[in-house]
Amino acid sequence: MLINNWYVAADSADIKVGEPTSVKMLGFDFVLYRLESGAVVCLSDVCVHRGASLSRGNCVDENVACPFHGWEFAPDGNCAKIPSMGEDFTTRRAKVDSYPTEEVYGWIWVFLGDLEEEDRPPIPNLLPEYHDTDNWRTTRMWFEVDANWQKFEENSLDTAHITYVHSTFGNRTDRKHTPAQIKSTYYGKKVRRERKAPKATQKSGVLGKLLSEERSKTVVELEFCLVGIAHRINPQFRPGMSQATFSASTPIDSKRTRQFGLQARNYAIEPENDQERIDGRRQAIDEDIAVITHVRPAIGPTSFSDEMLVQSDQMETEFRKMVMRMIDAGYEIDHEKVEAQWDRKIYVIPSPARRRDPKGWVHEAVPTTKPRNDKIWLELKQEAEADMAKVAQNEPAQSAAQGDKNGGAAE
Ligand code: FES
Ligand SMILES: [Fe+2]
Repeated sequence: MLINNWYVAADSADIKVGEPTSVKMLGFDFVLYRLESGAVVCLSDVCVHRGASLSRGNCVDENVACPFHGWEFAPDGNCAKIPSMGEDFTTRRAKVDSYPTEEVYGWIWVFLGDLEEEDRPPIPNLLPEYHDTDNWRTTRMWFEVDANWQKFEENSLDTAHITYVHSTFGNRTDRKHTPAQIKSTYYGKKVRRERKAPKATQKSGVLGKLLSEERSKTVVELEFCLVGIAHRINPQFRPGMSQATFSASTPIDSKRTRQFGLQARNYAIEPENDQERIDGRRQAIDEDIAVITHVRPAIGPTSFSDEMLVQSDQMETEFRKMVMRMIDAGYEIDHEKVEAQWDRKIYVIPSPARRRDPKGWVHEAVPTTKPRNDKIWLELKQEAEADMAKVAQNEPAQSAAQGDKNGGAAE
């Protein structure tokens, strides 16, 4: 699991004014609540006094009060009041980590790390259709799965599994796919390809009616972004009829993942058709879960030499390479160390305030597996820009994969 990344913590509607809410991410506990101003606060959930859970306390004005002895923590994480010590008592050491939050796409994003604003990557903007409500209708859902975040995301980028796993858009007569070029994007990769369309009989409901004529092909774009562990799948069923799904995966811990999803469609946009789309997504997710919860090893990333990846695994290979870059940059939580000490020691994800002033924190920052290179997000951005510039000049991009035999994605 990686620190120094944006993650979706919750649907906006689930974080309310004055109601501390517990959210587990990267194996750690956080308390989220909303201020009267609408801003969302995210703090480490473990009280530095004697370890109680702040999310079980209550809000007092803009602060959250611990349920054990009433210490109050302000939105910036500093302790504003220690009731047992009197009104005037202050101490520099009484503070918890406070994390940057943003609200985009009706999701609350939290930056789980200590980088300053100028060093953080931007939140991915993978669904511009969301804002065009005249022409697009968006449904939302989230679910939890007993699978490692990286294994689960690789499944979404795995274009070859569609043929075998998915009954409504897989197609066993189209096992070998046509070549497609993978292109660099900011912090990710993108592929566009044509694939043989599923048979009309594979679809049902309103979508089935709209696609009752046999089609020869579907054009599909698939794109992932390491920021937020996000991807977009955009099939065009026929000219002018399309849908786009934007998903962001948040590790709950190393073996469980919460995925938030938005799906925009420009057909059958009446609200009464929402449930059919949600049910369709749920079916596809259940088909994935049936396989992915049983792959081994359970925790990724798996080294390239421990699996036999082939050319049709190109997109998930590109994703894994990028994850490996983040690990080499010292952003991977040392899972074994944290697990071994879990019942005896409190670790926390470091926040920007801790980096600005590393002294005087009661709880220790979580150990990472390698030394830090805080230029990594910048390096990825610059490499993408160099690749994009090369493509613009019609030169083959260095890190973009050529001649993909199986690029593409689901409907
Ligand atoms: S444990 Fe939180 S105030 Fe004592
Ligand atoms: Fe799938």
